[in-house]
Amino acid sequence: MTVRKILIAGNWKMNWGPGSVAEVDLVRRGADDLSGVELSIHPPAVFACKVAERLAGSAVRLGGQDCHWEPSGARTGDVSAGMWAEVGAAFVIVGHSERRADHGESNAVVAAKAASVQAVGLTPIVCVGETLAERQDGRTLEVIGRQLDESVPDSILNQPLVLAYEPVWAIGSGLTPTPQQIIDVHASMRAALAGRAADLGPGVRLLYGGSVKPSNAAELLALPEVNGALVGGASLKAADFLAIAAAAPM
Ligand code: PGA
Repeated sequence: MTVRKILIAGNWKMNWGPGSVAEVDLVRRGADDLSGVELSIHPPAVFACKVAERLAGSAVRLGGQDCHWEPSGARTGDVSAGMWAEVGAAFVIVGHSERRADHGESNAVVAAKAASVQAVGLTPIVCVGETLAERQDGRTLEVIGRQLDESVPDSILNQPLVLAYEPVWAIGSGLTPTPQQIIDVHASMRAALAGRAADLGPGVRLLYGGSVKPSNAAELLALPEVNGALVGGASLKAADFLAIAAAAPM
């Protein structure tokens, strides 16, 4: 049987303030009691070194929110996966719906980014998810299936990989899918992976993301094939982030 350690990833997005370093320190301290769960903090890129310093020697991992697919060069404003590796990151999120929407990132771009993350030995967290209109049209599984096919080609399935199901309408809205809706999507993702790579797919962790908070974490993390959470707003406060992690079945 494949053992998948629960991953609780905190996506800080474009948020940083005077208290942020203290929150990182609190997560670091709280993580000592949560050895059954893997935790990561994904700060804005310019603060990566500062967070890396605070996390040095702890089990809490540093992660990126995005990267360019090229290793270096004339790409104004971007950072590469290799740069995330150099500051000690373990994960890089790619294909978040905010990147897909704000920066027009296609599935092909997301696939190239994921491959660039693996090329430097880090683990990509590839995000997929349907819009509200797509769900209302009954197209959720079709949309997720296509995103998986095109953002997660077979070539990246044989290296460390995490996938996150994040319904676009659940992100930052306070809304979450019903348990059955999450079960259905995660089961379809797991089946798609198994169909393509019977040997490799089972190790891939499937996270749920979208309005995860301390009050719903226990229910969400107990669902079949939910191997962790990608947390936005509630990851900014260490107490909430740690409460989510503590709710994971261990
Ligand atoms: P949220 O964001 O937890 O604030 O809904 C989740 C995400 O976008 O990863």
